[in-house]
Amino acid sequence: MTKHLKKVRLRVEKLQKIYQTGSGPFEAVRSLTFDLHDGEFACLVGPSGSGKTTLLKCIAGLMGATSGSVVLDGQPVNGPAKGMAVVFQEYGRSLFPWMTVEANVGLPLKTGGVPKAERAERIAEALEAVGLGAAGGKYPWQLSGGMQQRVAIARAVASRPSVLLMDEPFAAVDAQTRADLEDLVRRIWQEHNMTILFVTHDIDESVYLAERVLVLSSSPTVIQNDIAIDLPRERDQLLTRSDARFGELRAEVYERVQFAKTNVTGQSEPARLVEAGA
Ligand SMILES: Nc1ncnc2c1ncn2[C@@H]1O[C@H](COP(=O)(O)OP(=O)(O)OP(=O)(O)O)[C@@H](O)[C@H]1O
Ligand SMILES: [Mg+2]
Repeated sequence: MTKHLKKVRLRVEKLQKIYQTGSGPFEAVRSLTFDLHDGEFACLVGPSGSGKTTLLKCIAGLMGATSGSVVLDGQPVNGPAKGMAVVFQEYGRSLFPWMTVEANVGLPLKTGGVPKAERAERIAEALEAVGLGAAGGKYPWQLSGGMQQRVAIARAVASRPSVLLMDEPFAAVDAQTRADLEDLVRRIWQEHNMTILFVTHDIDESVYLAERVLVLSSSPTVIQNDIAIDLPRERDQLLTRSDARFGELRAEVYERVQFAKTNVTGQSEPARLVEAGA
């Protein structure tokens, strides 16, 4: 595993989430532990239903954990924390249709008490960063899906979070837009020195985006693998994806996700994977 000299930004420790359902308690997440260091870009991959969204909601303070803790910059997270922003998959539902793009982006700043002049500046900067400098006066329903998702990203960026959490944010956009948004997020990450935790189903996307991929087990979920993505920092949709190392990492993450799908938590991995070193 990579040695980190940077400070721990986010610490998730023995996080457990048990849902109370009509048919009894259901343990979605079990004793999950990992750290994110300052400025790290990590992707979280795992089988459908493995608890990715559950985990992200607990980290964001939008849902209480059953036990364990989430600590941001040394402070326990017990509700929506100031230094964290979230981008969800369903951009359509995350923007208010009766508010202009500017008003949507500025809403968290307004509720956070940022003065009007500074608000305007930060909104303009964030919209510029996502290439929507001219769309501030429009309404979300006047924009394409990819543009709406960029508005949601701008809203998160405008609040200048130290940690950005993203839950399959590009699952509903077309492949070309998705590639553009991936590069946009990498650029924003580099420019703003944010720490990003990005949930995705897509193994290629996880390897392309991240410096580190965390593979979840199937439910009840623990971190099954923590894989360092040792690709050059500058990524390019064509060059990076055709790099031999990209292919190797992609194969490794793929095999581990396949293993997670079929494995009951607690069983050890096949020798071939263990030897490859997780
Ligand atoms: N509110 C809830 N009440 C009861 N069970 C829930 C609730 N929300 C999620 N679950 C269960 O917890 C498990 C994890 O769900 P979660 O949505 O976190 O998975 P996920 O990894 O995000 O899935 P996907 O890849 O499909 O988005 C699933 O088995 C799901 O049925
Ligand atoms: Mg989910």
